Amino acid sequence: MNTHSENFEIKARLELALTASEKARDLILKYYQSPDLHVERKSDNSPVTIADRGAEEILRAEITQAFPNDSIMGEELPPVEGTNEFKWILDPIDGTKPFTHGVPLFGTLLGLEENGKLVMGVCRFPALDEVVYAMKGGGAWWKIGNQEPRRAKVSDQSQLSESVFCTTTMTRWETIGKQKAYEYLCRNSYLARGWGDCYGHMLVATGRVEVMIDPVLSPWDAAALVPILEEAGGHWIDFAGNPSIYSENGLAVNAALKDEILQIIAQ
Ligand code: IPD
Ligand code: CA
Ligand code: CA
Repeated sequence: MNTHSENFEIKARLELALTASEKARDLILKYYQSPDLHVERKSDNSPVTIADRGAEEILRAEITQAFPNDSIMGEELPPVEGTNEFKWILDPIDGTKPFTHGVPLFGTLLGLEENGKLVMGVCRFPALDEVVYAMKGGGAWWKIGNQEPRRAKVSDQSQLSESVFCTTTMTRWETIGKQKAYEYLCRNSYLARGWGDCYGHMLVATGRVEVMIDPVLSPWDAAALVPILEEAGGHWIDFAGNPSIYSENGLAVNAALKDEILQIIAQ
């Protein structure tokens, strides 16, 4: 397959991801801040709702209708084995805890692998009416409401003492033996905040925060983030510095601070 047709194939999937995530958003917003929303607990004690499952069903139906030969992996439903080089990786609500607490910092994530390499990502924030998206070679874009999309770019801040550090779950750093790194980052950054889940990673992609670290995560938490951060001029990498979504940890960082952050984590 030549470059032209690859780009065409990926662009078609990006357009589908943008419209499918709007349909999922409409369902999610029906349940957001609803007093009747029932929250179940999965076997790992994490929450799940009818909005998580319903949104993933919508995403899958849209993908399957448009691209029936693509593979699909998602958080809430069993995998689908396709017959071509494309694999979708879905998280219908990333940040189910903020969602169930009526806090708007949750998002719908769609990532796309082509022959195992991440080439496209969409992160839509239903309650904020914002979306950040990218395809390989096409730049990263940030659209707020009906405004024209603007380029998403990481900051060029190179001093940790002037940088904002975010993380999802403070207590999990101890679980993975990285408590010292967490404390170092809190003490040596300008500001440490818990703006978590995909929202924290997109703050890095849009230049508002310098580093966002998640000590524990799954492939669907990360797949959409890799192409977005790369196209925004930064990195989404695991704790070993590789753009792998299968390492159960990861971080978004601007280019200027990448090496220093990896050294701190390795302590
Ligand atoms: C969670 C978030 C969080 C990560 C957790 C995930 P969910 O996803 O991605 O950043 O630390 O491990 O479970 O459950 O809200 O989709
Ligand atoms: Ca998630
Ligand atoms: Ca989820």
